[in-house]
Amino acid sequence: MNLSKILRPEIHGFKPYLPGKPIEEVRKKFGLKKIVKLASNENSLGVSARALGAYLDCGKEIYRYPESSGLNVRKALAEHLKVNLDEIILGAGSDEIIELLGKAFFNKGDNVIVSEHAFIRYKMAADLMGSKTIQVPMKDNKHHLMGMLKKITPSTKALFIANPNNPTGTYVNRREVNEFFSFLKKRRLSPFIIFDEAYYEYSKFLSPDYPESLEYFKKGLNLILLRTFSKIYGLAGLRIGYGIMSRELVLALDRIRPPFNVSIPAQNAAIGALKDQTHVKKSLSLVEEGMNYLTHEFKKLGVDTLPSSGNFLMVNVFPWKGKEIFLKLMEQGVIVRAIDEYGFPNHIRVTIGLKEENKFFLEKFKMVLKRKKFSTDFNQKLRTREALKG
Ligand SMILES: Cc1ncc(COP(=O)(O)O)c(C=O)c1O
Repeated sequence: MNLSKILRPEIHGFKPYLPGKPIEEVRKKFGLKKIVKLASNENSLGVSARALGAYLDCGKEIYRYPESSGLNVRKALAEHLKVNLDEIILGAGSDEIIELLGKAFFNKGDNVIVSEHAFIRYKMAADLMGSKTIQVPMKDNKHHLMGMLKKITPSTKALFIANPNNPTGTYVNRREVNEFFSFLKKRRLSPFIIFDEAYYEYSKFLSPDYPESLEYFKKGLNLILLRTFSKIYGLAGLRIGYGIMSRELVLALDRIRPPFNVSIPAQNAAIGALKDQTHVKKSLSLVEEGMNYLTHEFKKLGVDTLPSSGNFLMVNVFPWKGKEIFLKLMEQGVIVRAIDEYGFPNHIRVTIGLKEENKFFLEKFKMVLKRKKFSTDFNQKLRTREALKG
């Protein structure tokens, strides 16, 4: 059968999302004993004991279907965030909610506004529905909110703002978001404004002027907030995230949400994780310390990074290809991410790891750079060479 003839035309040019390389695959391929994975922005501290306990406790229940809307998780979140229960929807990761929004609202002929270098799943959601994606250039490596506003037309369905952005780690601050909303209010057209805050807890901790988007939502602004249990709460493997939005929107998405999209173990673990704010604090300190350490070490090497408000760093490896460095590091047992698909062919993205993982990464990174021939005479690379000697 010629599948391409019957495939929806929107899917023809689709490429699957590129996830971080799995540890087992790398272990087998290179016959390595030690592997450090810093590729998918997971919580390097792992899952909290309370979340794990809650997960294990529900083992005998898994022959049943889960509660369809994740009522108990939503109750716990409603209390934690001081929002109404019916303003919360769960997804198999916040990723599923991005896709549900697309399936429910995006049409052919619509457009979706994103920033250049933004998290790629927004464009994929638009592509899936045959909508157009308008990419607005960044300003100073950040989303250019005013530039994005200017692109709104009657056909604009949504404007996605990853705050902070993956892979750059940069964020838009309170002042910029205030300004954005005051300009938006003056406009007749108002598409869905979607703040993707997958790294919310890190940003709130690391960046004092990080905006509290929930306050805007509570003031009645037409906003959609996306957050997740995959990052700080250490439950990436279970797939659970959530959206905060108007009741009407929750009801609309509920119409197409797969009825049992969040499993019993995921729901139980999420409730346990929310209760363990000590683990959250420990995770934050770990990232702060690791971020300071790595940033400092990169600086000594003359290697540029962008200040990050997440649990990861984007590292400039110019004049080398990010892919090249990624492959060389993998041979040494360190898995990071090459980020060509985000428009950064000369960068890698590194998740902040445990203290010893960061050290291991750095040791291998220096080794990889040392082995490369410093054939260029870029000043910066010369500085790097000097630093590596020392
Ligand atoms: C900006 C951003 N949004 C959303 C997600 C999706 O997270 P999840 O589907 O695991 O909740 C990620 C994951 O890396 C991300 O970086």
